Amino acid sequence: MPTEPHITPAVAHVSPQPERTPDPCVVIIFGASGDLTKRKLLPALYHLEQANLLPKEFAVVGVARRPLEDSFAADMKEGIIAGGGVDESDPKLKPFVGKIQYHAMNFDDSAGYEGLKKTLGQIDEKFGTCGNRLFYLATAPEYFSDIVNFLGEHGMSKPCDAPNGKKTWVRTIIEKPFGHDLESAKALNDEVNKVFHEDQIFRIDHYLGKETVQNILVFRFANGIFENVWNRNYIDHVEITAAESIGIEGRGPFYETAGALRDVVQNHVMELLSFVTMEPPVSFEASAVRAEKVKVWRAIQPIHPADTVRGQYGPGTVDGKPVIGYRQEDRVHPRSQTETYAALRLEIENWRWAGVPFYIRAGKRLAKRVTEITVQFKQPPLLLFKGKDGGKAGNVEPNIISMRIQPDEGITLRFGAKVPGQGMNISPVNMDFSYAESFGKSSANGYERLLLDAMLGDATLFAHRDGVEATWALITPILKAWAEKPVKDFPNYAAGTWGPTAADALLEVEGRKWRKL
Ligand code: BG6
Repeated sequence: MPTEPHITPAVAHVSPQPERTPDPCVVIIFGASGDLTKRKLLPALYHLEQANLLPKEFAVVGVARRPLEDSFAADMKEGIIAGGGVDESDPKLKPFVGKIQYHAMNFDDSAGYEGLKKTLGQIDEKFGTCGNRLFYLATAPEYFSDIVNFLGEHGMSKPCDAPNGKKTWVRTIIEKPFGHDLESAKALNDEVNKVFHEDQIFRIDHYLGKETVQNILVFRFANGIFENVWNRNYIDHVEITAAESIGIEGRGPFYETAGALRDVVQNHVMELLSFVTMEPPVSFEASAVRAEKVKVWRAIQPIHPADTVRGQYGPGTVDGKPVIGYRQEDRVHPRSQTETYAALRLEIENWRWAGVPFYIRAGKRLAKRVTEITVQFKQPPLLLFKGKDGGKAGNVEPNIISMRIQPDEGITLRFGAKVPGQGMNISPVNMDFSYAESFGKSSANGYERLLLDAMLGDATLFAHRDGVEATWALITPILKAWAEKPVKDFPNYAAGTWGPTAADALLEVEGRKWRKL
C-alpha cells in the first residue's frame, strides 16, 4: 500500500558534547598585548570555562614587552565581554579574570626567561597548576626562534617530575605564518625541533577549528552516498573561494611582507583543499589524518605561473561606503607590488582526481565576505529533456554541492526539477542545510576547539612539519615567479568588486565561470 509522503523538518538532535577536561595547566601567551589575545584567545578560553571544559586549577599569563601589569587583566575582561559576547554579570567572569596574570619582558632577553620561570613556579603554587605548560607564540614571526631557543636554554621546554609523582607536560602552539617560503619554514622547523619534540608542537591554523571545516570530513566520511561520486568520474571541477570584504585593518607592515598567497592561500585555503580531496584516513588519529593530507598536497602538480592571477585593490565602495585603495593604506608603499588577491588553477595527479581542475581565489576588499567550496558535477551523458526548438528544456544546470564555510554556514545541493505545468520545463532547485536552523547559532570562533585540543594533547587539527613544508613547496615557486616579474597594472581591481578580470579568464578559457556568490 502506498504510504503518504511524509516530510520531517530537519531539526537536529544535538547530543551533549562528551566532557573532556584537560589536566591543571598554565597557558602562557607570548605577544599578549596584540589584538589576537584580546579579541580571540581570551574570549575562546572564557567560552571553554563557561562550558566547564577548563580544569579548576588553571591560569593564563600574558607575556609582552610593555609594562601592562596593572591593566592587563581588566583589558582582557573587556575583550571577553566585547569579543566573546559575554555579560558583565556572568558569575564565572570575576573568578576567571582573577586567574589572568601578566609578565613583562623582552623576547630576546635571556634574563627575562629566568624571571618568567620563577613567575610560573609561583603561579603553580598559587593556582595548583602542577607544572603543566602550554606556551602560545602569538608574536610577530621574527621572534619565534628566539622564544623557542630561550625556553630551551632555561629548561622550560621539557617535561619534568611533578611533586605528585607524575610527569608534567609542556606544549607550544605556534601561530601562522610559519615561515615565509619553503626555505625559511624548513629552517624554523629545524630550530623548533631542536628544542621541542614534534609531539609537543602545535602549529595552529584557526580554519581547522571551524565547525564547517571539520564538517567537510563528516560530510564525506560519515555518509554513504557522497563518497561514491567524489572523484574524477563524476566531478567536473571544484572552486574554493575565500573572499573578504575587509581591507588590511591597519596591518600594513605585516601585509606588505605577506600578501594574499602567504596570508591565506598557503595555509587556510590549502587546508580546505586537503579536506575536500584527501583519501579516507584509516582512523581519526592525528598521524593518520595528517598523512592523508600530505599525500594530497604532494600529488599537486607544480603550478604554472600562467595558471595564476594576482591582484591589488584600488579605491572603491564597500557596503555602500567609499574606501581607499591598498597603496593608500597606512604604512603601505605607494607603489607596493604586494598582492591583495590571488587566484590559481591546479590539478591533483592521483587516481581520484587526475584531470579535474581546482580553481582557487582569495582576496581582500572583495564584494562580500564569503568562504565557500563548490563541487560541480558533470552533466548527465544524454540530455533527454529538450525544449520545443530542440534546445535545452528550460534551465538544465549541472548539479553542485556547495559548502558554505562562512558566513551563513551550511551546505546546498542543487539539482534540476520539473517546473509544474504541461510542458517539460526544468529549473534548478536547492536542498539546503543551515547550521543556524538545525543547531542554533554557535559563538565558537575556531580557537576554542584548538586551544582545548592542545591542552588535551590532541594534534589532529594542527599542522605537522611535513604538511607545512609540502604547502610551502607548492607556493614558493609562484612567489618567486611573481617577484621576478613586477606587475605594471596594479591596482587592477576596485575595492568592492570580485577581483581582476584576468581571474575570470582563468576559467573562461576552459568554458567555465566562477559561481556567483
Ligand atoms: C588570518 C589572516 O589568518 O585569517 C587575515 O591573517 C584574515 O588576513 C583572517 O583576515 C581570516 O580569518 P576568518 O576566520 O575571519 O576567515
